[in-house]
Amino acid sequence: MSQFTFQDGALFAESTPLSSIAGQFGTPTYVYSKAALLKNFASYFDACKGRDALICYAMKANSNLAILDLLAREGAGFDIVSGGELLRVLAAGGDPRKVIFSGVGKTSDEIRLALSHDILCFNVESIPELHRINEVAGAMGKTAPVSLRVNPNVDAKTHPYIATGLKANKFGVAFDDALATYRTAGALAHLEVVGIDCHIGSQLLDDAPLLEALDKLIELIDTLADEGIVIHHLDMGGGIGINYGEAGEAEPVPVGEYLGRVFAHIDAWRARKYDGKPIKVAFEPGRSIVGDTGVLLTRVEFLKPGAEKNFCIVDAAMNDLMRPALYQAWMDVQPVAPHAGEKVNYDVVGPVCESGDWLARDRQLAVNPGDLLAIMQAGAYGLTMSSNYNTRGRAAEVMVDGDKVHLIRQRENPADLFALESVIK
Ligand code: LLP
Repeated sequence: MSQFTFQDGALFAESTPLSSIAGQFGTPTYVYSKAALLKNFASYFDACKGRDALICYAMKANSNLAILDLLAREGAGFDIVSGGELLRVLAAGGDPRKVIFSGVGKTSDEIRLALSHDILCFNVESIPELHRINEVAGAMGKTAPVSLRVNPNVDAKTHPYIATGLKANKFGVAFDDALATYRTAGALAHLEVVGIDCHIGSQLLDDAPLLEALDKLIELIDTLADEGIVIHHLDMGGGIGINYGEAGEAEPVPVGEYLGRVFAHIDAWRARKYDGKPIKVAFEPGRSIVGDTGVLLTRVEFLKPGAEKNFCIVDAAMNDLMRPALYQAWMDVQPVAPHAGEKVNYDVVGPVCESGDWLARDRQLAVNPGDLLAIMQAGAYGLTMSSNYNTRGRAAEVMVDGDKVHLIRQRENPADLFALESVIK
């Protein structure tokens, strides 16, 4: 059940009215539900019970320290893609030994930082990266644990910007080159091969492409075993989608069912080939952990009727929530206090000076200036992808816990935005 519900005709987060949050903290504000977050994490955690498995939350989806802290306390590890994200994990009290470092362009400084904190492993995406990690580890007198991100060439059937497992994508080592790349890794003195991973894309509603990718990884692990290269963990990446509420949208596969199928698959394979000896399994979910735990609360500034389009101008914009502008993503818009009145077809747009600055198109809304709207399912890739375009401070973030509201990120004020700049003397 959603933690964002209408109660007595007004939208609530858990047992807190969104209107009171807007009154206290202003708009635009991201509002998260703690209960929803814990429930989503539990859907992974419970499905992994009794197994050697690790859930490495892909923190690029939402990296607020309060969220990382809550997940770390539930036992989460983290999938990071920068040194900055590692520093966030440490600041939130997360365990670096449960950190997986993904990404195609790790710098030497980032590798050094990660090695100095003994992270679980580097998900390596190319041969030059193997050499760089080997060099940095050697200079530090360390051995770096590595996994190869294999690109299984599977069609994730999602938006092209968020499909990552095809030959045409920049990610991972091509399936056909994987064996040779493992041999290279095995021959480097300061690397220890520990794993294999893949991540084929995001917002997948069906798990068939993921299971197809799993089959390819299994095939590769067997080939490697025949060569004496032992893989200790298999990382399935992230990718399970959420329901954004668009009419006709397919339901995403429930997390428990997907993990059940992965484990059944793996168990059958291990029984067949390795006398049932288990293998550690990792997942890197992002959106399915935080996507439906947050809304973006915004206020209507003006209504602007037009010859072809009517615009509902709100105080949130593409800089706060880029998904519609960047992917033409459909996001649900709900009035916080629905009232009577004629419904009009609106494009919900922000104040930013771009025609691409829209949050929703062609929505039937009965709204007045001053009304509050909630952009639903905005917990993933919302604040983390926001910018300061047009010198707009990033939105505030609050976490609701029942009837309590915690400010977990202050609204940025304009002076903060140019504090690092200077004029030429
Ligand atoms: N692991 C790796 C290596 C990734 O690149 C990603 C996401 C994940 C895990 C988590 O995937 P998820 O479980 O969230 O699908 N900004 C886009 C999504 C970009 C996803 C990038 N990689 C959006 O708003 O739809």
